Amino acid sequence: MKSIASAPAKVILFGEHFIVYGGKAILCAIDKRITVESELVNSGIIQVNSTLGTISIPKDEPIKNVDAKFRPVVFVAQKILKRFNSESGLKIAIRSEIPSGVGLGSSSACCVAAASSISGLFAKPSKEETLKLALEAEKTVFENASGADTASCTFGGIMEYTKQGTKNLNLAPKFQLVIANSKIIHSTSKVVSRVKQFKEKHPDEFSLLCQNESALIEESLEALKANDLKKIGEKMNVNQAHLQKIDVSNQTLDSMVQLVKNTAYGAKLTGAGDGGCIVVLVDESNLKNTLDALSEYECFATKIDTVGVEQKV
Ligand code: MEV
Repeated sequence: MKSIASAPAKVILFGEHFIVYGGKAILCAIDKRITVESELVNSGIIQVNSTLGTISIPKDEPIKNVDAKFRPVVFVAQKILKRFNSESGLKIAIRSEIPSGVGLGSSSACCVAAASSISGLFAKPSKEETLKLALEAEKTVFENASGADTASCTFGGIMEYTKQGTKNLNLAPKFQLVIANSKIIHSTSKVVSRVKQFKEKHPDEFSLLCQNESALIEESLEALKANDLKKIGEKMNVNQAHLQKIDVSNQTLDSMVQLVKNTAYGAKLTGAGDGGCIVVLVDESNLKNTLDALSEYECFATKIDTVGVEQKV
């Protein structure tokens, strides 16, 4: 029997990095998915096939010896096999529509889809159980992960996230999002470490920025609830300025944001920064002009995913 599950990509509308230090973030799951297919096999092997490559290892290989690219998925596999006292090995296939290393949550979505798919071989997990396991898996490669990305990929929709929990905003948004990819690959954990250094070097400035970001997020929540696109866009631009101050934007991202200054409601980098993608707020009236303005980059309009992780057995 095969167990198949998929999870969506995400964008952070507000609050990346500051969320690591206890702030609030607003995230939105988008309609690009990663699918994990798993199957028990009569061997002592865990095998993973994905676009990132293939690995085949003894099922009890110490996790620290496993290539970091595959470690979270192998962690999930080992944990589930142990939990259900299974003698079997596992064959796992991963297919992704989400570009990796560009801030769209590909590794979180992979952890979520793997947790759901592999658990599903034994018992249907709840979304809460899936999230818990996916976050543990993600932390095998990124210890300080706030959990925001995994929560968004698990529950879908537009959500408010704090480390204490999630709240679906149940909005009926009148906007669309455009994502443009700088194609500069980043390492989230490295950028997060750099921000930690910034915080240690400039504690007062960082603390003030955290306060400003918190206030911005409360105002953005009001604007989102009111579907006030002009205001949401302005808040995104202010959030981009905060991210510039902690030095996670770069010239390419800044110039991409500038390109849509006169067409879209607002724009900012999304995710860890230092490369990756920008997210741009538009509606029907300015979508085409915005896509035209970004034509030198890979860019696409997205729809909001309201489903989150999904099992297909
Ligand atoms: C990465 O998508 C978001 C960060 O805030 C890290 C995290 O929340 O774990 C940069």
